[in-house]
Amino acid sequence: MAQSSPPGSETTARFAHITGWGKALPEQVMTNDDIAAFVETNDDWIFTRTGIRQRHIAHEAESTATLAYNAARQALEVADILPTDLDMIIVATSTAEHIFPSTASQVQDWLNASEAGAFDLSAACSGFVYGLQLAADSIRAGSTDAALVIGAETMSRIIDWTDRSTCILFGDGAGAVVLRASDTPGGVLSSVLRSDGAGGDLLAVPSVGSIDAKESPVGVNGNQLYKISMAGGEVFKFATRVVSESIEQACRLARIQVEDIDLVIPHQANRRILQAAARKLGIDLAKFMSNVERYGNTSAASIPIALCEAIEQRRIQSRDHIALVGFGGGLTWASMIIRWGVPKPSEQHGSLIKRQQRHVQYRLARLRRLRRRMARRLQSSGD
Ligand code: ACO
Repeated sequence: MAQSSPPGSETTARFAHITGWGKALPEQVMTNDDIAAFVETNDDWIFTRTGIRQRHIAHEAESTATLAYNAARQALEVADILPTDLDMIIVATSTAEHIFPSTASQVQDWLNASEAGAFDLSAACSGFVYGLQLAADSIRAGSTDAALVIGAETMSRIIDWTDRSTCILFGDGAGAVVLRASDTPGGVLSSVLRSDGAGGDLLAVPSVGSIDAKESPVGVNGNQLYKISMAGGEVFKFATRVVSESIEQACRLARIQVEDIDLVIPHQANRRILQAAARKLGIDLAKFMSNVERYGNTSAASIPIALCEAIEQRRIQSRDHIALVGFGGGLTWASMIIRWGVPKPSEQHGSLIKRQQRHVQYRLARLRRLRRRMARRLQSSGD
């Protein structure tokens, strides 16, 4: 059973704190009216059922990896550490450009994070919380001092743009955090990670090697290769149930009451899911961070993007209890309680020297990549 209780109290004095954060959204915006130009829908239907007005869509030169990289650079700036300080890079995504190399390895290379292990994590919209939990456990166990956890997606690439029941929901973007070891109590306090594979057919994207995509009637909207199919109503019921249940479980593990939560940062899928969850939990809806109106559902990226905006809007103060909750394909869901720790967001200042060192490392990474490719080309033309 994947869950953890408050760390540090008995056996170790290491805590895992978020010390850096960043986000990246494509410039291009697609409004509900834009979508109504090519499928039969309208702004009123979409907004009333989902709370979404617009979403950001990647340009053809952008990818999950470029968005992840841009968010990661911001997070390193805020944390004021060098890429070479990182021990681990996790990218939670369902829209990697390749099965391998992983998006995380691409980001590792572009950052020049030469001391870091890197891998992608597949848990759909719960992926960011899963990744944060793995990184926090690794920090508390003592094998990692600094980790970069990213949620990044180009959902626009796996949408069936003729299916009005799904194409209205999703958007592209990335969010990243730096997680660091600290002896200050707090940080990641507890988490609850869960899966119910029996509901896998409710929300699926058949990929290479899929037997479903060829002839099996397992999926719900025709099992198109690399396209989302979703049984929206079923997913809605599942989501409203697990959000409240898993937040309550995570609170128990963190030894706090639901009333102690200062801010909930939920996966941004649908405003009505959040309203239902707030009702079930007995928490004021004002304590739920929501930006679904502007970004739609960016899957694994939605929680870190919302976290960044909550910090920007000064909705998080030192010692606040923050609840993160994700849910999605798998089916998977995950909740986490964080006690916001060091340092205070408003006291964050990067040093000029480190900033320059980071820029030099990014340039060096690019030069090294070009040199290696050139060398390989010369070698193969000489063979
Ligand atoms: N515009 C206008 N009408 C539409 C549209 C649209 N875009 N889409 C569907 N309709 C129609 C349907 O055809 C149906 O018409 P009918 O009654 O004549 O058959 C009617 O609207 C109602 O359709 P429902 O699917 O029952 O609508 P519902 O109220 O359930 O809302 C929605 C659909 C918004 C998709 C909702 O079910 C939902 O948000 N589900 C959760 C989705 C979600 O959060 N998924 C992400 C999980 S995260 C991840 O891992 C990817």
